[in-house]
Amino acid sequence: MSGMTTTDYSSFQVTSLTPHLAAEVDGLDLSSPLSAAEQADLQRAWADWSVLVFRDQQLDRDAHKAFARSLGEIHVHPMNYARNQDPELLIVKTTADSPYTAGDAWHTDVTCDEFPPMASALYITETPACGGGDTLYADMYLAYEMLSPPMQSFLEGLTAVHDGALPYVGAYKSMPPEGGYPRNEHPVIAVHPTTGRKVLYVNSGFTSHIKGMHRWESRALLDSLFDMIATTPRLHARVEWEPNTLTLWDNRCTQHHAVWDYHPNSRYGERVSVIADARPAGVAG
Ligand code: SIN
Repeated sequence: MSGMTTTDYSSFQVTSLTPHLAAEVDGLDLSSPLSAAEQADLQRAWADWSVLVFRDQQLDRDAHKAFARSLGEIHVHPMNYARNQDPELLIVKTTADSPYTAGDAWHTDVTCDEFPPMASALYITETPACGGGDTLYADMYLAYEMLSPPMQSFLEGLTAVHDGALPYVGAYKSMPPEGGYPRNEHPVIAVHPTTGRKVLYVNSGFTSHIKGMHRWESRALLDSLFDMIATTPRLHARVEWEPNTLTLWDNRCTQHHAVWDYHPNSRYGERVSVIADARPAGVAG
């Protein structure tokens, strides 16, 4: 592990993966309920780093869900309606026969929902024997801050449409439920409810277009923002999984990309997500 170790949290030690995004937490056992002091430190560390990595966790499904529930109400993934499994779990399983791996493009989880998940907790128990299978994260606070002031002001007035059919039908070829997958509008620049900081809140996974613009204008603008997110290494942190690692990320200020570089090897994990209690809010509130 490299990075700066900070002792700002009395319940555990935190070592950053980059100066601004993602940190490893050492000294917290997620298999049993956290004390009030641990919860408070966790909330602080999560607000500071957006992505927290916990190694060597021994979690059964109940413990994984209990940890997620300690942050809020568990989210049910829209694709789970057709799956014969626990609706509160998203199975992230990739084998030699998989037609795709979940999340193999820059995205924020399920922004097609009216109340998208604020948090996702992915617990990986099998990593590819050949190495690889890392997850990249991108800092959407910094993405906003790296835009020029005129571009920031322009984007602050805009609203985008986020459409579940884009990934779930377009990329994953799944059969939509009756009435279709969710489709909702969110501000292009949102304000994080805890930190009060502004974030760029469009993602190539779900954002189909910007309201009130010609199609070509919307496409050009979104593509340039998506290019910036994908091609600016300063925005990124990389989590290298080991078996029994849980990573908790904040969907309100990050994007992520699962790297499928390990075919025909396998990788297995389970994700539990937590619904936000408010819709993403724009700059005007
Ligand atoms: C996801 O939640 O998008 C999957 C991430 C991963 O498998 O690394």
